[in-house]
Amino acid sequence: MTQKTGQRKWDLRKKMADISTEIAGVKFETCVFNAAGPADVTLKELEVIGKSKSSAITMKSCTLEPRKGNPEPRYADLEFGSINSMGLPNLGYKAYVKFSKIVKEKYAKPVVASISGMTLEDNIVIFKAFNDSPVDLIEFNPGSPNTIGKPIVGYDFQEMDRLLETVSKICKKPWGVKLPAYFDFVHYDQIAKVIKKYPVKFLTSVNSVGNGLVIDPNKEKTVIKPKGGFGGIGGRYIKYTALANVRKFYELLGRKIQIIGVGGVYTGVDAFEFILAGASAIQIGTAFLQKGPVIFAKAQKELLDFMEKKGYKNIEDVRGKLKTIN
Ligand code: SIN
Repeated sequence: MTQKTGQRKWDLRKKMADISTEIAGVKFETCVFNAAGPADVTLKELEVIGKSKSSAITMKSCTLEPRKGNPEPRYADLEFGSINSMGLPNLGYKAYVKFSKIVKEKYAKPVVASISGMTLEDNIVIFKAFNDSPVDLIEFNPGSPNTIGKPIVGYDFQEMDRLLETVSKICKKPWGVKLPAYFDFVHYDQIAKVIKKYPVKFLTSVNSVGNGLVIDPNKEKTVIKPKGGFGGIGGRYIKYTALANVRKFYELLGRKIQIIGVGGVYTGVDAFEFILAGASAIQIGTAFLQKGPVIFAKAQKELLDFMEKKGYKNIEDVRGKLKTIN
């Protein structure tokens, strides 16, 4: 390489925006990675995420015992997203403790465990086990919308208080909480008050929007089987709700707690909007399932291009800087 070409390459590199991020002191090469849920149950699936451009490997929310999940059909692609009532099919926490060691050694990226114990006692056992694992972060998912017979725990503020108090006593890793979507400003205030009491490092907002109902008008039937057809809605349908949640939590807790935005991200510009709203990182769920692992490289490139076009150097230049109309 001549000196001139080398210099030109260096100048180009200098111009590239930096979309790396840091969550609870853990460095991520870019701010875009996979959400807990889709295609992250088996070691084979985690290896696919490891080999992709996803900046982290987030593992499926795990329970004490392995779970088969809800009866099929339990997932359907929709025009603008998805509906699912998976019911937390997973291999049980011991498998993910083991997988975390394997993928951590093989891939140079953070590994995120997601914990979704069915009871307080289950959560204690699982959190303790991950204390002795190489996972970088733990995302506590206190309530999937799809567990038959269980309410969405994130809407029960007293129960959330009890759970977070326990987790804060036992968890030795940096940890955060995955939240359902809230819709009322009073509820944001109530859950923020609970979260503020504990050493929560990050919020992941939002889980799929619970208990939607999709109907096939020709068959005059629901499109999924569990719970009479009710399931969590994901994808583009929920982007605006997710952005609102990220924004509101950024306003209420942004000085103390980082926010990972998730819900309807298909493009780098979607990711940019989440950063503007206040997100420090972005997870991709439904779009990963629908488009495959190439979605991560695509969204990252589009985010880089968009930031460069606008003259931003890094995500801190953008984060939370949303303007409103006065
Ligand atoms: C599921 O497995 O039911 C989805 C996971 C979640 O909604 O948290």
